Amino acid sequence: MKIVMLGAPGAGKGTQAKKISEKYGIPHISTGDIFRANIKENTELGQKAKTYMDKGLLVPDELVVDLVVDRLAQDDAKKGYVLDGFPRTIPQAEALTDALAKIGEKMDYAINVEVPDENIVRRMSGRRACVACGGTYHIKYNPTKVEGKCDACGGDLILRDDDKPETVKQRLEVYHTQTQPLIDYYEKEGIMREVDGTVDLEDVFNAIIEILE
Ligand code: AP5
Ligand code: MG
Repeated sequence: MKIVMLGAPGAGKGTQAKKISEKYGIPHISTGDIFRANIKENTELGQKAKTYMDKGLLVPDELVVDLVVDRLAQDDAKKGYVLDGFPRTIPQAEALTDALAKIGEKMDYAINVEVPDENIVRRMSGRRACVACGGTYHIKYNPTKVEGKCDACGGDLILRDDDKPETVKQRLEVYHTQTQPLIDYYEKEGIMREVDGTVDLEDVFNAIIEILE
C-alpha cells in the first residue's frame, strides 16, 4: 500500500502517518523529519535545507527528489509506505509518478487532511516533536506520558524552529500557492480522498482506515 499524505502545515499529516505506519507495518517517510535529522547532524544537506526551512520556504525540488527516490528503493519500502510532506510541488509529484512508472508501479491513495488556517496557528504553538524519531505530540491534544520525553523512543522533545507564528503564516501561504494544486493533480489520477482533520485525532484515524479498507 502506497499512500501520500496531503494537508496544510499542522493539519496532522505526521500524526496520522505514524499511526498508519504502525497499523500496516509500512515505513513512514517524512521529508521534514529527514531534513531535521540532517540539521541535527549538521550535514551539508542539513545546512542548505535549514536556510529555507527557517524562513518557512520550501527546500528546492532538486534537493528533495533524489533523496526520496533513493529512500523508496530501500528494502523496507517494498511492501509500501506512507509519504508525509512529499510531494509538495507539481514537479515533485511528476518526478514521483515517473519514478514509480519506471518500475511499473503507481501510488494507491492520496489523503488530504483538511484543516482551516484559523485552527493551524493555535495547534502549532502547542506542538512538541521528538528529535530522535520525529514523533509528534501536543501539550493539550496529545500529551506524552512523561513530560518532555517521547513515548515511542524516550527521545527529547523540542519546539520546532519553524513553529513561530510568523513562520507558520509564511508556511501556510507557501502551502496554498505551491502544494494545494496537488489536490487537483491527484484528483485527475483518480486516487484523491479527503478526511476532516478538525475532529479528535482518533476519529481522523478511523476515517482514514475506512478509506484504506
Ligand atoms: P514538514 O516537517 O513536512 O512540515 P509541514 O508540512 O509544515 O507540516 P508539519 O509537520 O508542520 O505538520 P503535520 O501536518 O505533520 O502536523 P502534525 O501531525 O505535526 O516540513 C517542514 C519544512 O521542511 C517545510 O516548511 C520545508 O521547508 C521543508 N520540506 C519538507 N518536505 C519538503 C519537500 N517535499 N519539498 C520542499 N521542502 C520540504 O500535527 C500538528 C500538531 O497538531 C501536533 O502538535 C499534533 O499533536 C496536533 N494534532 C494533530 N492532529 C490533531 C487533531 N486531530 N486534533 C488536535 N490536535 C491535533
Ligand atoms: Mg509533520
